[in-house]
Amino acid sequence: MKILVTGGLGFIGSHVVVELLNRDYEVVIVDNLSNSSISVLEGIHTICNKKPEFEKLDLRNKQALSDFFLNHQDISGVIHFAASKAVGESVQNPLLYYENNMNTLVYLLQELQKLSKPNIIFSSSCTVYGQADVLPITESAPVKPAESPYGNTKQVGEEIIADVCKIDSSLSAIALRYFNPIGAHHSGLIGELPLGTPQNLVPYITQTAIGQREQLSIFGNDYPTIDGTAVRDYIHVMDLAIAHVVALERLINSEVLTNFETFNIGTGTGSSVLEVVKAFENVTGQSLNYKIVNRRDGDVTAAYADTTRANNVLGWKSQFTLQEALASAWKWQQTVMGIKEY
Ligand code: NAD
Ligand code: WQD
Repeated sequence: MKILVTGGLGFIGSHVVVELLNRDYEVVIVDNLSNSSISVLEGIHTICNKKPEFEKLDLRNKQALSDFFLNHQDISGVIHFAASKAVGESVQNPLLYYENNMNTLVYLLQELQKLSKPNIIFSSSCTVYGQADVLPITESAPVKPAESPYGNTKQVGEEIIADVCKIDSSLSAIALRYFNPIGAHHSGLIGELPLGTPQNLVPYITQTAIGQREQLSIFGNDYPTIDGTAVRDYIHVMDLAIAHVVALERLINSEVLTNFETFNIGTGTGSSVLEVVKAFENVTGQSLNYKIVNRRDGDVTAAYADTTRANNVLGWKSQFTLQEALASAWKWQQTVMGIKEY
């Protein structure tokens, strides 16, 4: 069975590709390499002893996408990761985000409608909930006005898919609302490759520990949380990868009651920034240079998932601990720096 993975050389996509290949799916990746490297293909190859098909293609190129589908009419499932994801950049350049995250989704859905049994998994985000009024967050929590154009693209993306599903019962879709994906494949051969200064906590931690950054700034210690630092639900990217395969199998194999579903994908446990720092220090033996600075604009106090729906409906539950995720992120950081060869 052939699965199209858009953005499949990126952080999350590459781990999902590994999981798909290991389960004997045929995979075709399209990626424009705007936020990834072609060398990721080698990592995937080494891990799986198989190579996915790869086509360098920009999903904003409607004609090229249409030609691609003409040549791949045997696609049985689509997992759509390709998007721009930097929150701050989206505030500076909203049109880039609306073009890259919205136009591409629309073009993809237009092509999907030409397939015999179209389905799509959409990468959504817990950012749609903003600061939820009730924790842990269930899927029925209200979607809050977006804090950034990036967040808005996830909300509108879900709405676009829901609208199409309403009028096209042959299309089935699942939006996975990820909480905070971290970590890397245990081989240390693929992982997250942030361009420039990392915006996210864990890559900033690993780059500081390895000496690439001088000091981690912790954004605020005056939140109403266990130790004053903000709380998130950090999920191992391999757990996330398994969730995609399970969701895909639901779309392909089962007669679903409704053709558009959303699931929270998290661990269900919140950890504060300081707890993450301490866990990293414990598991790696590295001591981290950090300081407390002001809160970051737009940050919420706390967000963690109620995963009951994913547990019961998908039969999926996260397996890895925060410590395992941090250890894998550290192993990957060492690979990136060429300090250790695996
Ligand atoms: P990533 O940037 O590592 O991967 C995205 C991939 O898509 C990259 O390889 C990039 O080159 C490619 N791409 C971007 N625009 C493209 C285009 N127009 N045509 C073809 N390829 C294109 O990001 P990621 O962390 O793997 O995130 C994957 C998806 O998950 C994104 O949609 C993101 O918004 C969503 N998401 C990510 C997080 C997170 O914290 N990483 C959380 C929630 C949701
Ligand atoms: C986690 C915590 C920071 C960096 C973002 C996006 C969200 C989603 C995931 C895609 C926060 C603190 C961070 C640092 C710090 N992406 N922090 N020092 O903000 O929960 O979510 O990524 O959909 O949309 O907004 O993740 O990793 O940036 O931050 O203290 O150098 O770590 O303040 O409390 P966030 P993050």
